[in-house]
Amino acid sequence: MKFLTGETEKNIKEIMGRYEDPKSALLPILHIVQRDYGYISEEAIGEISEILALPKIEIKSVFSFYTMLREKPAGKYHIQLCRNVVCYLNGGKELVDFLREKYELEPGSFTDNMKFSLSLVECIGQCEIAPAVQINDKFYGNLTPEKLKNILDKLE
Ligand code: FES
Repeated sequence: MKFLTGETEKNIKEIMGRYEDPKSALLPILHIVQRDYGYISEEAIGEISEILALPKIEIKSVFSFYTMLREKPAGKYHIQLCRNVVCYLNGGKELVDFLREKYELEPGSFTDNMKFSLSLVECIGQCEIAPAVQINDKFYGNLTPEKLKNILDKLE
């Protein structure tokens, strides 16, 4: 059974038409699939592989460069917490401990209600406001456990 259908399929075809070599559309296609499905499943990777005539392994290698791409479902609010040295030395470790203790949120997991999920990621380019997190598409910095709690409490 086909997995990528409807608007997603239409948008993929449109994006491919913009490139001389359709393989160049890989990254935008991955973004479309993640936007529409919340993550990029094994089935989606298989279909993208067929559409672009690219080996699955080549598609999967893109995930190691772009930590915003997910191969697994995420919570409604996906928290990407920077684990690089600048953030960790400025309180990032305390943020991880806080999420673990107060939200029972382990890296790579979800809260029971699927509201939050957590990944520890490499530098998210916000070192000047370390420690920093990205929640969905938005960055937050100069965080303490209290500030992070305030942000999370305001998310519906
Ligand atoms: S080291 Fe954390 S954002 Fe760069």
